[in-house]
Amino acid sequence: MAFIHGAHIQIEALSHRYRAARTNALEDVSLTIEPGEFVALIGRSGCGKSTLLHIMAGLVMPTRGQVLIDGATVEGPSPEWVMMFQQPSLFPWMSVAQNVALGLVFNRRGHDAKRRVPELLELVQLSEFSDRNVQDLSGGQQQRVALARSLALKPKVLFLDEPFSALDAFTRASLQRDVRTIARELGITTVLVTHDVSEAALMAERAVIMTSNPGRIRRNVAIDRKAWDGGDAYQAERMSLMTAYEDVAGDSLQTSSLPPAASSTSSVIQRPPLEKTAVASMPVASVRRA
Ligand SMILES: Nc1ncnc2c1ncn2[C@@H]1O[C@H](COP(=O)(O)OP(=O)(O)OP(=O)(O)O)[C@@H](O)[C@H]1O
Ligand SMILES: [Mg+2]
Repeated sequence: MAFIHGAHIQIEALSHRYRAARTNALEDVSLTIEPGEFVALIGRSGCGKSTLLHIMAGLVMPTRGQVLIDGATVEGPSPEWVMMFQQPSLFPWMSVAQNVALGLVFNRRGHDAKRRVPELLELVQLSEFSDRNVQDLSGGQQQRVALARSLALKPKVLFLDEPFSALDAFTRASLQRDVRTIARELGITTVLVTHDVSEAALMAERAVIMTSNPGRIRRNVAIDRKAWDGGDAYQAERMSLMTAYEDVAGDSLQTSSLPPAASSTSSVIQRPPLEKTAVASMPVASVRRA
């Protein structure tokens, strides 16, 4: 697939309060993400990571402030930015190729499917599964199908909301590596939400640390790309990220919800609300107002 120019993201003084809530889920959040950059949002459960990501993607409208993607205010979903959730939300009665073609079909570009789908399946290493029913794939393979579907419309931004946390450690590690490589090669701006400091050190070039009640950005930590190969550089970056997190969050990772290592499995498997599941990686969803 050809190089895509990743988008520039500008978050300006964003605050959000859900209708039912007494406090703000986000307060005065500002952040700039450069084209092609890979940023991880980390923080404890409930600090507003998903809320921030969903506002960036136009799935939730903020109470105050705005998000600009390539200079235009985000007012809803777009084929230019796509979201992947923990559950791949595929259509179980369709084949792998049909699921990958869906984004194209919904955006009246079904005629491109014959050429694009084999290209995308090769990218996610699923060429031999093209005609297989998606129900007969493993969880990791299903996430690869969701990734291929997300990339079909050549998005400029990929939003990832803990898409690996329901997978076993081995599958997770290979998907982490492949998603990072694909995002990098295609030049897509990527924002990953994760509880997992190890995942951030392995995938991102910057970690944005958030604190809760209300959700705020506390620190930006640059990550040396050498960490992506694992080994000593990875251990060093992971340790400095943990120290930064403990500094700002004021608690120890040993007792918090953050898993200690890349190989650990998240103890809390959270299913996204139905309305989020329904739009997983599909750029055609309606805007959720809350
Ligand atoms: N639809 C909603 N209505 C009211 N409050 C909500 C809603 N969605 C989230 N919240 C609240 O907003 C805050 C931030 O939630 P959010 O889902 O963004 O956190 P998170 O950092 O993604 O957490 P996790 O790591 O557990 O997924 C939490 O206090 C949560 O309870
Ligand atoms: Mg979340």
